Amino acid sequence: MRACVAGWGTAVPERRLTNAELEARVDTTDEWIVERTGIRERRIAGPSETTATLAVEAATAAIKHAGITPDEIDLLIIATATPEQPIPHTGAFVGEALGLRCGSFDLAAGCAGFVYMLVTGSSLLATGDLRNVLVIGSETLSRIIDPADRATCILFGDGAAAAVLSPSGDDGRGLLAWDLGCDGSATGLLEIRAGGSRLPASPQTIANGEQYLKMSGQEVFRRAVRAVVDSAVTTLDRAGVASSEVAWFVPHQANVRIIDSAANRLGIPRERTIVNLERYGNTSAASIPLALAEAAEDGRLRADDLVLLSGFGAGMTWGSALLRWGTP
Ligand SMILES: CC(C)(COP(=O)(O)OP(=O)(O)OC[C@H]1O[C@@H](n2cnc3c(N)ncnc32)[C@H](O)[C@@H]1OP(=O)(O)O)[C@@H](O)C(=O)NCCC(=O)NCCS
Repeated sequence: MRACVAGWGTAVPERRLTNAELEARVDTTDEWIVERTGIRERRIAGPSETTATLAVEAATAAIKHAGITPDEIDLLIIATATPEQPIPHTGAFVGEALGLRCGSFDLAAGCAGFVYMLVTGSSLLATGDLRNVLVIGSETLSRIIDPADRATCILFGDGAAAAVLSPSGDDGRGLLAWDLGCDGSATGLLEIRAGGSRLPASPQTIANGEQYLKMSGQEVFRRAVRAVVDSAVTTLDRAGVASSEVAWFVPHQANVRIIDSAANRLGIPRERTIVNLERYGNTSAASIPLALAEAAEDGRLRADDLVLLSGFGAGMTWGSALLRWGTP
């Protein structure tokens, strides 16, 4: 038995933050942002929107799309770097809003979170003999970005996307192979220093701006391309699939130059690579499922297509998964 994506749903805030608005706020230009990242706008959560409210909206759509009811969900996993609160976990808020009483947990693997969740959810679906697992990538990164930091405020956006994982039939569809990894020598490349046990939040940490995300962009860039390529190749090798057989490559949407560089090294052309970051920026754990759901929704993904997902993020984590697309 393998896990298939039986339904999907997305939720993005209405408010768009354009490059022109950022030009007015920090020392940057639309031209610089587009040329260096490919991003033109991102969505920003309104005052009443949170990681949990976006997750609930995406999940409600995914449950409906899968043609099930919430009581048929046996496990809920949420991947996020921007939880609703430190305690309790975001799944508690989302489960309550959806009327669930099944087990739930949050998964922290940065922007590789969706792939980690796909692997974890699939495994528990099989070993726990579960009916359906609901996985949601949801982020409100605008709440952890320093609005005055031009290195990060141009990159990140808010959004959520959910998938219902259900057991496949005998059609060979579902998760075929995967690879997960983490190189903890890179913890300092992308981090929020304060607010944990190492450096609890205090007036001093706030004064230092240590509640905000800090990034070494160039080094993240360099490692990201290598991580995506190595992990994707490992995954394809495990499945015995050549990159020429991949119908769609769905990479983490961080920077179009990272995507093009990785796709190029994998030998996958742009026409078979899903890119939507010009409209959303980097939405971390929501980025891969948002791109996947859009491509599924508009009919680009077809039954039995081989779909390769690959992401990287803070940690540094990485993860790839190969799916044979199609509902059970
Ligand atoms: C952040 C990133 C876009 C910067 O692009 P880059 O080509 O590496 O640019 P550099 O960092 O070399 O900076 C080049 C110059 O532009 C400047 N610059 C940085 N941000 C700028 C901005 N928003 N607008 C204008 N100039 C900017 C730098 O200060 C630097 O100026 P200098 O040459 O006078 O020192 C790129 O490194 C990147 O995308 N990295 C990966 C980040 C990522 O994916 N993070 C999430 C991981 S999940």
